[in-house]
Amino acid sequence: MVTTVPERQRIAIGADHAGLEAKRQVGRVLQDKGIPFDDLGTHTPASVDYPDYAQVVAGKVSRGEVERGILICGSGIGMSIAANRFPRVRAALCTTEEMARLSRQHNDSNVLVLAARLTPLDDVSRIVDAWLVAPFEGGRHSRRVEKVETPCDRRFVHSMVTIIDHPMIQHKLTVIRDEACDTKVFREVVDEISSLMAYEITRDIPTDDKQVRTPMKMTVTGKYVRGGRVGIVPILRAGLGMIHGILKVIPMAAVGHIGIYRDHDTLKPVEYYCKLPGHCEDLSIIVVDPMLATGGSAVAAIDYVKKRGAKRIKFNCILAAPEGIERLTAAHPDVEIVAAGIDERLNEVGYILPGLGDAGDRLFGTK
Ligand code: PRP
Ligand code: URA
Repeated sequence: MVTTVPERQRIAIGADHAGLEAKRQVGRVLQDKGIPFDDLGTHTPASVDYPDYAQVVAGKVSRGEVERGILICGSGIGMSIAANRFPRVRAALCTTEEMARLSRQHNDSNVLVLAARLTPLDDVSRIVDAWLVAPFEGGRHSRRVEKVETPCDRRFVHSMVTIIDHPMIQHKLTVIRDEACDTKVFREVVDEISSLMAYEITRDIPTDDKQVRTPMKMTVTGKYVRGGRVGIVPILRAGLGMIHGILKVIPMAAVGHIGIYRDHDTLKPVEYYCKLPGHCEDLSIIVVDPMLATGGSAVAAIDYVKKRGAKRIKFNCILAAPEGIERLTAAHPDVEIVAAGIDERLNEVGYILPGLGDAGDRLFGTK
């Protein structure tokens, strides 16, 4: 009898081509036990890339859309590495029942990873069985799991997505989410968040030598950021709300502007203005917009800056929807996305849930 996976909870399962047979076996085990599950592929023996499946399953566990996940590849190693990059995911590679049991009892594992090439199908059933029923023991193990879960200031959700989950940024995000936050405070806090994020975004900015005379002597520091290195490109209108905050941190940046709005009916981006710095190819470009929703505006803006020669581009938003991240990383896999948070999903009219509403209207008091 299943004691630790209540019926309403779902399990997401995924595998690459090497894990296909084992995944079918896992499906049979879950079906026999009456546990609802989502099979997220792969569904054919054609060769695929394990991170693609690790990311969909671990992403669902990370966002709380399913209670647990099961991932399978040949050795289980790639899936474990990829899944454990997601916040709140504790993926355990288990080749024996004992490991599966302990991963639940001591580590509260929420993703079971199986090694199809090292584990006979009968053992797969037994391992899954052990993992499903073993409860987390809590006590001293809670303390240890909490330490594992202690957030870093920079958290990598995907190799090209960075969430800056510093408590003060998260606090300020909570302030602007509140519908009672008025335009003045909203604008001020967006400005503050933008400054704080700018520190992280510019972490890898190139520096030059500079000779300075201190009150004591002449010296050369290798730590000077000159102009002509960075270009900030806000997407009008809401991106304007972030510019002042970013320029407080990096005042030597050039600023370009791209005017794009979403057509309310089609949600497609409509461009109406573009003025970029003249030497984009030499600059590290940061495209900024508080909201990454469907991703249409960000993709269009980055298309523009690439057409103008830009090669090193980051996208900085305050809130991102998983749908927007997916679209942007698919269209521009070379562009790092830096955000303060990833929310649950979009609603039927393309607004981020729970989100903060219409960023442009809240910044400029137009509603
Ligand atoms: C908002 C926001 C983004 C866009 C995001 O702008 O500032 O630019 O929506 O949505 P997407 O990812 O689905 O493209 P909006 O269209 O409301 O224009 P505005 O800034 O002029 O208010
Ligand atoms: N644009 C916004 O301003 N907010 C959303 O939630 C989505 C798009």
